[in-house]
Amino acid sequence: MVREWDPRTASSAEIASLLATLNAVLAADLPQDPPWREASLREYLAEVMPGERRISWIAQAEPTDPGDPGAVLGQVHVLLLGDIGVLEVLVHPSARRTGLGRDLVLRAARRVYQEGFRSIGVEVVGDTPAVGFYESLGFTREYVETRSVLDLTAVDWAELAEMATGIGAGYQLEFFPGGPPDDLIEAYARAKAEVRDVDDGELRPSSYDPERLRDSLDTLHRRGMKPYIVLARHEQSGEVAGLTEVVVPAQHPTRADQYDTIVAQDHRGYGIDRAIKARMLLELRSAEPELIEVQTWNAQANEAMLKVNAELGYRPDRDWCEYSVDVAELVHRLDPPR
Ligand SMILES: CC(C)(COP(=O)(O)OP(=O)(O)OC[C@H]1O[C@@H](n2cnc3c(N)ncnc32)[C@H](O)[C@@H]1OP(=O)(O)O)[C@@H](O)C(=O)NCCC(=O)NCCS
Repeated sequence: MVREWDPRTASSAEIASLLATLNAVLAADLPQDPPWREASLREYLAEVMPGERRISWIAQAEPTDPGDPGAVLGQVHVLLLGDIGVLEVLVHPSARRTGLGRDLVLRAARRVYQEGFRSIGVEVVGDTPAVGFYESLGFTREYVETRSVLDLTAVDWAELAEMATGIGAGYQLEFFPGGPPDDLIEAYARAKAEVRDVDDGELRPSSYDPERLRDSLDTLHRRGMKPYIVLARHEQSGEVAGLTEVVVPAQHPTRADQYDTIVAQDHRGYGIDRAIKARMLLELRSAEPELIEVQTWNAQANEAMLKVNAELGYRPDRDWCEYSVDVAELVHRLDPPR
């Protein structure tokens, strides 16, 4: 049975069953990824940026006993933002190839269409069943990034400490657990607006104005995701010359996510990229003792950033693709008029 589902009011048993399905999916498709935990999972699924909406459905097995809610076999949600619906679908490995994935996509697609959105985007992990699935539904590949993973147990910390100080004269590095302090938000947003040389996927838009940046930090915190920031400040002008952001999610605190890394145009060529990332790793080592890996996503054309990441010890892991489809075409394909 498939039904619309609201994580805010869902029972704890449903949240726990969804977590079990998510972990079964990870074990089948991405066995090297750490399993997720229940910590803040409800908030992770429920909280969104102001102006955005996430709508979810779940597929539940028939209950075996009267008190049993029925295991969650699949889930779909769509995040409505800007002019696009961003889709995520999960089907338990034991329930695959029965048409459930297609059914879940149809539920979401119909709603996205009714809400007047034109296209649907989705992140698809390379070398998993999702590639064949979305291609069979008519989605086309827009963009490919590489996910790389750094194993902190293999890091040479002395070398990293050297990298963190290997920066041109006139810059100072500062570490901010929790995000930039309020008096730095304007300068921080300016640096982000100036350069969009990001480490991040296009389906996770960056925040370029101060208000949106505040909202985005607030949303991260509400979703149980803790941001850490290292800034390079140009001492003479006080400008934010570079910044790097890492987020440690309560749901998988042993593996952190690298978000944006930006070096402003005028401040390139002074070793800022490498130094801020190295400093970040050194700080995380004491701030997050559970952490053992960091993952990052890079455009394959971004050679400069890939080179720095390789020096830090990141190893390429998977292709991470963005696919999209025209909503009307998708609905027509899945639910042809009779
Ligand atoms: C992708 C996914 C949703 C597909 O679910 P599903 O219920 O098995 O899909 P369906 O049964 O509706 O399949 C519909 C069509 O998609 C295509 N398809 C599905 N799985 C496929 C595969 N492994 N290889 C090739 N094509 C596939 C087929 O054309 C299939 O039709 P058919 O079975 O009649 O041949 C499921 O594999 C899944 O949950 N994957 C994980 C997705 C994810 O987000 N992971 C993130 C962490 S890895």
